[in-house]
Amino acid sequence: MKDHSVKLKLLKTLSDGAFHSGESLGAQAGISRAAISKHIKGIQEWGVDVFRVQGKGYQLAQPFILLDQTTIQQQVDNHVEVHPVIDSTNQYLIEKTATIEKGSVCIAEYQSAGRGRRGRQWLSPFGTNLYFSIYWRLEAGIAAAMGLSLVVGVAIVEAIQNLGIEGVKLKWPNDLYFEDKKLAGILVEMSGQTGGAAHLVIGMGMNLLMQDKDKNIDQPWTSLSEVIGNDQIDRNQLVVSFIKCLNQSLKDYELNGMDGFVERWNKVDNFLDRPVRLIMGDKEVEGIERGIDSHGGVLLETADGIKSYIGGEISLRRND
Ligand code: ATP
Ligand code: BTN
Repeated sequence: MKDHSVKLKLLKTLSDGAFHSGESLGAQAGISRAAISKHIKGIQEWGVDVFRVQGKGYQLAQPFILLDQTTIQQQVDNHVEVHPVIDSTNQYLIEKTATIEKGSVCIAEYQSAGRGRRGRQWLSPFGTNLYFSIYWRLEAGIAAAMGLSLVVGVAIVEAIQNLGIEGVKLKWPNDLYFEDKKLAGILVEMSGQTGGAAHLVIGMGMNLLMQDKDKNIDQPWTSLSEVIGNDQIDRNQLVVSFIKCLNQSLKDYELNGMDGFVERWNKVDNFLDRPVRLIMGDKEVEGIERGIDSHGGVLLETADGIKSYIGGEISLRRND
């Protein structure tokens, strides 16, 4: 694995938001100013907005508090790993499902190969967002996985509501939206089966402080800082609330399935009673969205009546 220790040390120093001269950073790290400049370039490639002012040194455009494994681990029973740099937190857990315990969590500051559904890229700049995965084993097997994937969306929205934040909703099957813009995406992946149990890795990417509107994302998106109107987000505490809510909801789902759950999902449906399009490969259906059914399918009303659609290949889009 590549050694990122110098870059991480620099980031830790810079995370106070103050100016630091190349000379002082070099002295701290025991390397030359030229080497510092090279590492700063590497940090910028991780998506961090760091700039240099002649005579003053380097400064972060936006200071951040780094994730702290000990702070998080002290507050939850799940096994927690925080990685500053990783390819994908989902990939990391998928490769470990044979050996890790149920509920294990992997969180990263930066993903070099963050992914969305169907191989799409998930933009994952360092330090400003949340990239989080949890491993869950479902004894009921794959058939129950669709329901579980919806449960996760509701668990996260409810965790956000518990923090006093209103207005975050869901787009079927499980993207988080705020004012019709994507705030977070959830990706549930299966890592094969043994003896009937399904091994699931549930990953979530949530934008927290990502502000640069030129970021190369081909659809409207937002960050939690916009939702709450300031950038005072304690990322460590946010992760802890998400882990606790997920533990509760996943256990609940194992015991009771989708019972009572459809109502909870429909309550926070971003597109309920609104015109939408369902895209299925080269086919499209237009209609009014009527929430989900007990199988986790999305209900669409057309001139032919209400029909349920389900499957990983379906994308829902607004149509007004
Ligand atoms: P679907 O409805 O099929 O899920 P989607 O467009 O939301 O459609 P996903 O695969 O779920 O697609 O998510 C990946 C997409 O999310 C990317 O193609 C990009 O448009 C967008 N995206 C990537 N990174 C981010 C990010 N950090 N924040 C918001 N959106 C992002
Ligand atoms: C989507 O909207 O398609 C889902 C995006 C999921 C992104 C998260 S970030 C943490 C985890 N690791 C990944 O590579 N993807 C998920």
